[in-house]
Amino acid sequence: MPVITNIDDLKRLHRKRTPKMFYDYCESGSWTEQTFRENTTDFDQIRLRQRVAVDMEGRSTATQMIGQDVAMPVALAPVGLTGMQRADGEIKAAKAAEKFGVPFTLSTMSICSIEDVAEHTTNPFWFQLYVMRDQEFLKNIIQRAKDAGCSALVLTLDLQILGQRHKDLKNGLSAPPKLTPAVLADLATKWTWGLEMLGTKRRGFGNIIGHAKDVDDPSSLFKWTAEQFDPRLDWGKIEAIKEMWGGPLILKGVMEPEDAIMAAKTGCDAIVVSNHGGRQLDGALSSIRMLPAIMDAVGDQVEVHLDSGIRSGQDVLKALAMGAKGTFIGRAFIHGLGAMGEQGVTKALEVIHKELDISMALCGRKSVEDLDRDVVLVPEDFTGRWA
Ligand code: GLV
Repeated sequence: MPVITNIDDLKRLHRKRTPKMFYDYCESGSWTEQTFRENTTDFDQIRLRQRVAVDMEGRSTATQMIGQDVAMPVALAPVGLTGMQRADGEIKAAKAAEKFGVPFTLSTMSICSIEDVAEHTTNPFWFQLYVMRDQEFLKNIIQRAKDAGCSALVLTLDLQILGQRHKDLKNGLSAPPKLTPAVLADLATKWTWGLEMLGTKRRGFGNIIGHAKDVDDPSSLFKWTAEQFDPRLDWGKIEAIKEMWGGPLILKGVMEPEDAIMAAKTGCDAIVVSNHGGRQLDGALSSIRMLPAIMDAVGDQVEVHLDSGIRSGQDVLKALAMGAKGTFIGRAFIHGLGAMGEQGVTKALEVIHKELDISMALCGRKSVEDLDRDVVLVPEDFTGRWA
């Protein structure tokens, strides 16, 4: 058993053990990947203030996100095709999250279906919705999430059309993979993945297959999104979905203060400052850079969460210190899953928790609720002067 001390260790194992097509899907941004890169490098620009002679006993990272108790304010983000990183991946990740005490968010584009994840877990999870053109499908999937007892709907606002990630096109990404000579050669070195996949029936888009009509090629994410996703999503439709759902709502993918104001006006429970992990609009600023402006615009009206770029507990601490009430991790837990299944997701959460707890203590704070702007040193020009 290798000694895992950080998320990069899990990432290396993920790469070694998972078919290239799925590792690349996880580790890609759109076009030049500038935004994808800056999401992480911008976190590095923020430094921490070391404080001493503060009693550190009795620390806690526990708090709430949208009024729900969490062991630390780190939710598992919705990630498409998670069940291709490892057989039954969504069920494994959801189990790890519930044991740890953090929210798990199931993607619309998951491999395991809503019902399947509900059947294999006991705590309610969150469901992420992509809005489809087919109204019947939309109503139906919202009802399915309600029936499964999902405790929040995470509505993604930044993916009516899919950003281009070059590697996915070159690799011929599909679920399940098409067994071309290149894929077969790759699988020859990933036999545990293959054996586990042979042992499960969950190898296609579980929320879609059997539920949506007129699908040309149900294995292709590109065709799916192009044919089915509703490019007409606007604030009116968001209101309608809020009504249809009737429960806690999180609006994900907000990057501009004007949009944050519109989002807060819907009466949603939280917004997520996110550029979709740099997978949509390349050239957008990192989400951590946009956080201060969004806090100024709506911080007193709605709970603000952040994702995109978080790879450590120190990143979580920085986001919280700058005003976020919660964070989401995507790649960081997928690396764990691809490396070691459920145990790897638990490991990723443990790594992040330990980094958050120790950093918080060395900054002289005993609770995540006490983290504020005084904990961090932010370069004067961090948010930048843009015309
Ligand atoms: C969403 O499904 C994505 O690929 O980013």
